[in-house]
Amino acid sequence: MAKNKEGFWREAIRVTKENDPAARTALEVLLTYPGVKALAAHRLSHWLWRHNLKLLARMHSQFWRFWTQIEIHPGAEISTGVFIDHGSGLVIGETAIVESNVKLYHGVTLGGTGKDKGKRHPTVRQGALISAHSQLLGPIEIGENAKVGASAVVVTDVPANVTVVGIPAKVVRINGKKDVEKIMTIEERREASYHSSHL
Ligand SMILES: CC(C)(COP(=O)(O)OP(=O)(O)OC[C@H]1O[C@@H](n2cnc3c(N)ncnc32)[C@H](O)[C@@H]1OP(=O)(O)O)[C@@H](O)C(=O)NCCC(=O)NCCS
Repeated sequence: MAKNKEGFWREAIRVTKENDPAARTALEVLLTYPGVKALAAHRLSHWLWRHNLKLLARMHSQFWRFWTQIEIHPGAEISTGVFIDHGSGLVIGETAIVESNVKLYHGVTLGGTGKDKGKRHPTVRQGALISAHSQLLGPIEIGENAKVGASAVVVTDVPANVTVVGIPAKVVRINGKKDVEKIMTIEERREASYHSSHL
């Protein structure tokens, strides 16, 4: 996990204000943003998990799930500067990795397919945007600064700097541009890698 020089609370307030124009004051952020509470609670749950206090870790994370409607498994690795907006129904699985400056909205699942053992949840690289109600399933990787559209279902790796939408999610933009030829090449590669990993 990346070191946080700014301190968790200061960073949480800054990141919330940067990402949500509705956030007016530090006090408002601390009192009314469930994502901030869930991320703070996860720091303790993760500490307990790593120190082999696994039942206590799970009980702690379930307690905060009740208050925030955000379920983060204590084993998940969440970096600094992550922003969770709204959050209701957000589920983050045990082996998920979420890097710095990722944005996650309500209804998102970073889940397993039920077919994998060991590392079975997604890795979300720096700066990616994971929109409301998108479902990211399996040990896939979402590249740096990628955007996943609302309600997409993602079951294959997503390269850096692209936008994917739909079910199953397909690339529709590269660096914000609709470069049809490049998009087709990327999609052929994604399809081939999906089929080779499911033989
Ligand atoms: C995907 C998203 C992030 C935009 O990314 P972008 O790179 O700027 O993409 P664009 O807006 O240029 O859209 C690209 C294409 O995908 C389509 N598209 C965008 N979002 C989509 C979605 N969720 N589902 C299906 N298609 C979608 C667009 O219509 C466009 O289609 P076209 O190629 O036929 O023109 C945005 O549309 C989105 O889903 N935001 C949701 C954020 C969120 O969760 N907000 C909740 C706040 S409470």
